[in-house]
Amino acid sequence: MQVQDFGDSFYWGVSSAAYQTEGAYIKDGKGLSIWDKFVSEKGKIYQNQHANTACDFYHRYAEDIGILKQLGIDNFRFSISWPRIFPEGSGTVNQKGLDFYKRVIDSCLENDITPWITLYHWDLPLALSHKGGWTNRDIIGWFSDFVDTCSRAYGDQVNHWMVLNEPLVFTGAGYFLGIHAPGMQGLLPFLSTVHHAAMCQAAGGRVLRSNLPKAEIGTTFSCTMVEPMSNHHKDLSATRRVDALLNRLFIEPALGLGYPVDYFHSLHRIEKYMRPDDEIALQFEFDFIGLQNYTREIIRHSFFTPYIHARQVDAEKRRVPTTLMRWEVYPESIYHILKLFHQRYNLDKIIITENGAAFKDFWRNGKIEDPQRKHYLKQYIAQCLRAKQEGVPLAGYFVWTLTDNFEWAEGYQPTFGLVHVDHSTQKRTIKSSGRWYSKFVSGL
Ligand code: FCB
Repeated sequence: MQVQDFGDSFYWGVSSAAYQTEGAYIKDGKGLSIWDKFVSEKGKIYQNQHANTACDFYHRYAEDIGILKQLGIDNFRFSISWPRIFPEGSGTVNQKGLDFYKRVIDSCLENDITPWITLYHWDLPLALSHKGGWTNRDIIGWFSDFVDTCSRAYGDQVNHWMVLNEPLVFTGAGYFLGIHAPGMQGLLPFLSTVHHAAMCQAAGGRVLRSNLPKAEIGTTFSCTMVEPMSNHHKDLSATRRVDALLNRLFIEPALGLGYPVDYFHSLHRIEKYMRPDDEIALQFEFDFIGLQNYTREIIRHSFFTPYIHARQVDAEKRRVPTTLMRWEVYPESIYHILKLFHQRYNLDKIIITENGAAFKDFWRNGKIEDPQRKHYLKQYIAQCLRAKQEGVPLAGYFVWTLTDNFEWAEGYQPTFGLVHVDHSTQKRTIKSSGRWYSKFVSGL
């Protein structure tokens, strides 16, 4: 496999997110986010770690963008922290926050790196959470104002935009399971949040389109290959429900197909939050769809699991290779996901906006060796090529992530970076996987 096999216009990049890297959590007028609060609650995060400093990207962005330049990586996906722009969530703009992303964008462009902006990567302003956050329908207005401000501020320099990062994860983990900020639990907060996030996904797209008619507008979805544990009809229908939740829930309303209630009946309760014209308002024609895939899950029927009556069979029990996240290493998963989305929805353009792996890194003679990460990336990229060669309109691939960073509830333990970060000194060291990716994308 060579980079040329993907064609000249293919986008190769890396992805990151504001909360996981920036730090400077109360600097220059930034307001608190739900994550700043969540990490301060005992027992929520591995070893009570937090991202108050994280990778200090706020002060070291130029160094990190310099590393991208050195590695020959031409595309950089990062997110904008909403409470850095609107400390209270809405109303008064924090000019210093706007200036920061302007510096990041300028630095990208000076280094011939294309900036790709994600507007929401999970760090909701805490002030809005006090008003109900994603459970409050007013969020459609608050979010639209935020998108409007960002697109006016950066639209003449940035052409690639993504509205939301993985809405299923921030609604599911944050409002149903309670393991992510803001730590709410239950079907009703979850369903209201799903509906408002899906409304914002389309509303954000429309604001971008009207402010920036020439921009390339996308949004991203987490997606997981799911397979039944057996051919028993109960495992098959459990798998259909999980697939509806993991792979259909947010894309189908955007495409005008409505919520996938036929596949997962409990979802019909979402109708309670819908108003007469919402089915239309949920729709938006994205220029590209960002898919984020890491693994596959094997699903079995489970009588005792509420609502979904399904559960996954842990990878460890199946004795398959896993990453530090306990996710199965299964390269064909990305191929299946690409084929599935292509066949189901006939999309015009797909970009893998995240893929990567957490593995232990080893120091040898002052260098970092991480052969497992390199092997993982190589195999997953090969499966992307396989899908592309079979006609999937795949236009880009972004590794998660550039620097080892704050992995949400798991803290700093699972390292995903192409670049190691010593969090006590902030020293960056390029790993062997980073050197490999650099050579690969440079065609060497
Ligand atoms: C994705 C998130 C990203 C990162 C990776 C490992 O679900 O979008 O922030 O945590 O997983």
